Amino acid sequence: MVLSNEGAVDTPPGQEKAQELPVPLEKRPRHIAIIMDGNGRWAAQRGWPRIEGHRRGVQAVGRVVRACVRWQIPFLTLYCLSSENWKRPPQELSALMELLGQFMVEARREILRQNIRLRILGRREGIPDHVLREMDKTVSLSAENRGLCLSLAINYGGRSELVDAVRTIVNKVRAGKLDPDQINDQVISDHLYTSGLPDPDLLIRTAGEMRVSNFLLWQISYAELWVTQDCWPDFTEEHLRQAICDYAQRVRRFGGL
Ligand code: IPE
Ligand code: IPE
Ligand code: MG
Repeated sequence: MVLSNEGAVDTPPGQEKAQELPVPLEKRPRHIAIIMDGNGRWAAQRGWPRIEGHRRGVQAVGRVVRACVRWQIPFLTLYCLSSENWKRPPQELSALMELLGQFMVEARREILRQNIRLRILGRREGIPDHVLREMDKTVSLSAENRGLCLSLAINYGGRSELVDAVRTIVNKVRAGKLDPDQINDQVISDHLYTSGLPDPDLLIRTAGEMRVSNFLLWQISYAELWVTQDCWPDFTEEHLRQAICDYAQRVRRFGGL
């Protein structure tokens, strides 16, 4: 059970446990987005196959989701597979699909128990039918949940997302349902896969690369960046706590003074 909280005391979310994080609620990021990178390197450092890194990466997902639930972070978005990752060898891709399908089944009970709402961001093409079925099931069973909103970016590309949004907007204009003069930032945001989600406040990347790799290009305009050298399978609650504490010290100016 990837999201299970083994060994932890079952405390209502946001009560005593929230005090483990020395940052008042109003100073915490509302939306954390994570580029979970370095699974392959983590495995290679141990002489193991890359997929073992992905497998251990799933456990890190469980740790981070549990911490976000406890610390009352309302939105968490995880980059699981980019539209460019299809360039990888077929064996790695099929192993990743297996892991995804497995996650969707095994995490379902815990997602529902923790009142988590699951969303999927990305194009459906290329994802095997059985994985889509399990994904859709968890998404629809959790649709009314009001706890953490967990978005998984799967076959996601920031540019494809903008292309899809432009197509939908143009079709609405053509059909006479939208006046081009009304198109503004909000209209564009409303046509992205992330429609309805606030923009990320904090963008975390593991494994040290200083790039965004086509993740949430529109949405991260003013996100605070936090990068660790550690690979994703080694990411713990401690890393997340540090990232949130650092975030709380940042001065966000949004172009003002
Ligand atoms: C991130 O780890 C997971 C995916 C992109 C699916 P990588 O697989 O990119 O690991 P590295 O960056 O090669 O070490
Ligand atoms: C970004 O990692 C995608 C995910 C974490 C899913 P990559 O490993 O694909 O990024 P690059 O290739 O190093 O830019
Ligand atoms: Mg990588």
